[in-house]
Amino acid sequence: MLVDSKDREYLVTLDVGGQFHTHAGSISHDDIIGSPEGCVVRASSEQRFLVVRPRLSDLVVNMPRGAQVIYPKDLGAILMQADIWPGQRILEAGVGSGALSMTLLRAGASVLGYEIREEFARVAEKNVRLALGETVDYHVEIRDVTEGIDEVGLDRVILDMPEPWKVVSHAERALRAGGIFLCYLPTINQTQQVRETLATSGFGMEETVEILRRTWHIDGRSVRPDHRMVAHTGFLTSARLLRTPER
Ligand SMILES: C[S@@+](CC[C@H](N)C(=O)[O-])C[C@H]1O[C@@H](n2cnc3c(N)ncnc32)[C@H](O)[C@@H]1O
Repeated sequence: MLVDSKDREYLVTLDVGGQFHTHAGSISHDDIIGSPEGCVVRASSEQRFLVVRPRLSDLVVNMPRGAQVIYPKDLGAILMQADIWPGQRILEAGVGSGALSMTLLRAGASVLGYEIREEFARVAEKNVRLALGETVDYHVEIRDVTEGIDEVGLDRVILDMPEPWKVVSHAERALRAGGIFLCYLPTINQTQQVRETLATSGFGMEETVEILRRTWHIDGRSVRPDHRMVAHTGFLTSARLLRTPER
């Protein structure tokens, strides 16, 4: 990742002999390859760029998008609220741009994605392979999750799609006892609807949270919250499967 003097970030995949073109002219990839993280390179205009490997959160906000991604503040919270650990089998829908997929996979889980739009599935797969390589256990099927889930004995069902209440009964059949259902929703009306559905299902221990993250400006004696913040993204609702239906 290249960072310019105004803190603008650019993701670059390095190739021997390659060039990166910016508003400040071009940068030779060969000037970067083999250099330590934190080095500074100059573009042809002499403008300086800091070079570091991107963190997962940098990738998520800077990578090519199909659909809107879940922001890092919510991705981190999802790992805790859904209690993600290595080796879990997770059904995720829809995968959109792959930001949530990348987060679950990097925590060591196996992820099967359902996505109704083929072009988004391809963006997600490309982003995942670019960020994490070919070895992660990730497969995406083009299908509508409201029509059912084929898998059984899953550890988690994690949803970022508009009508998760239509998936609650499918998740009851697909999850193992004690498994966790989690959905991310932008509005409280949708959240209320999924909570009503969960309340009459085999799920219990429901929890809905909203994550507010405020960065601070710290410069000498000028110490205060930043003027701007991402005020609203979405609500996270989770529940655990306590009574499994007849299969
Ligand atoms: C906001 S995006 C998901 C973004 C993703 N969580 C990420 O972090 O990159 C919502 C996705 O759900 C998909 N979708 C909507 N309804 C669906 C359904 N019934 N079954 C499967 N995917 C669905 C959309 O096509 C879209 O790609």
